[in-house]
Amino acid sequence: MKLRTQVGIIGGGPAGLLLALKLFRSGIDSVVIERRTREYVLSRIRAGVLEWGTVEQLRNASVNARMDREGLVHDGCTIFANGKSVHIDFKKLVGKSVMIYGQTEITRDLYNELDTLGVLIFHGAEHATLSDLDSELPSIGFTHDGDKKRLDCDFVAGCDGFYGPSRQAIPANERREFEKIYPFGWLGILSETVPVSEELIYSGHERGFALCSMRNPSLSRYYIQVPLDDKVDNWSDDAFWNELALRLPKKAAAKLETGRSVEKSIAPLRSFVSEPMSWGRLFLCGDAAHIVPPTGAKGLNLATSDVYYLHKALCAYYRHGDSQELSRYSRAALERVWHAMRFSWRMTTMLHRFPERSEFENRIKASEIEYLATSRIGRQMLAENYTGLPY
Ligand code: FAD
Ligand code: DHB
Repeated sequence: MKLRTQVGIIGGGPAGLLLALKLFRSGIDSVVIERRTREYVLSRIRAGVLEWGTVEQLRNASVNARMDREGLVHDGCTIFANGKSVHIDFKKLVGKSVMIYGQTEITRDLYNELDTLGVLIFHGAEHATLSDLDSELPSIGFTHDGDKKRLDCDFVAGCDGFYGPSRQAIPANERREFEKIYPFGWLGILSETVPVSEELIYSGHERGFALCSMRNPSLSRYYIQVPLDDKVDNWSDDAFWNELALRLPKKAAAKLETGRSVEKSIAPLRSFVSEPMSWGRLFLCGDAAHIVPPTGAKGLNLATSDVYYLHKALCAYYRHGDSQELSRYSRAALERVWHAMRFSWRMTTMLHRFPERSEFENRIKASEIEYLATSRIGRQMLAENYTGLPY
């Protein structure tokens, strides 16, 4: 069966869905092809912190009603290391805030809106293959409900995450990859308990990193650094709570509310960039092109800034026949990507315990927190990057 659209989107995560919605609002047709079921996509617990630019994008796409009702605006966070707590007052330092609203909820809101608008989404679409990307009529082949389908389009948006086929469709000799694998992962739990603090706490304890986050006033999200080869089954809920408490400032540890975990998983940490982010009529967005370690809370936010640039470029093409912006897409997106890479790497090295770390590096780590404590400019730099650089 043959189908035709303007923009064929592979991947129904936040990047693919937001792109589909923004294109619809601009009068541009798209079809989304997602390998998983909707239930599966909505069961994945991932990011929770939205930069203000992401909040504004969701507002501009008119998919903000629930986020504005249920999301929590945070004007600051605490960094704890070397026995010292430093408050980073985003609002005072850079006049901006972040919003706490889970990626799962954004995805749910986007699906609901796209359903209402009648945008076609194929779930359970298998064996996606990209063809003729260097021609005027690229296509995506896939299997759905046992039927072979072909989607012809003007452009393909590869929004299929780190393991999807889009990035691999760029010939290897035209692609360059940059990668750093960290020797640890994050064990995360979700628990129906009152969050330990009204704002996030990032702890660079000598036992290892810990993070106190939340989804709402009665749902907490906590993470601790674990060895890369650790397994969820090694961690009972009690063991998790005990270790978390040891890594927090004493005052926070004393009021930590514990309970049964409703989700528990381990995610590895990686920095990865594939350049360029476009080839022929293929444009990559989000995790398909880059991965950041979660410490700077940038993964989802970068996916949405890529979508911002690509949507703008596609509008210039369809409205004015101007393909200049499309040819500049990769450069524009990558500039912001590398800033977030640097920030996420810095936060990760500053706050984690590295197995091979020497006394020299420990002193550098101690000096980092001292610098934050004593320098307004140091705190301002952190706040500027954390709340999001401009697009
Ligand atoms: P994804 O959300 O990965 O969406 C890609 C979609 O493409 C998926 O739905 C996938 O099923 C689909 N797909 C893949 N292959 C195919 C195919 N062949 N055909 C069709 N569809 C396909 N970021 C943070 O900031 N904080 C966090 O705590 C955090 N935790 C994370 C935990 C995990 C386990 C992972 C993997 C990521 C985490 N991230 C986190 C990163 C953040 O969630 C991502 O940056 C964000 O999801 C990127 O959105 P995306 O749409 O580009 O990719
Ligand atoms: C969350 C995840 C992050 O990676 C982060 O830096 C802050 C918060 C979260 O899941 O809530």
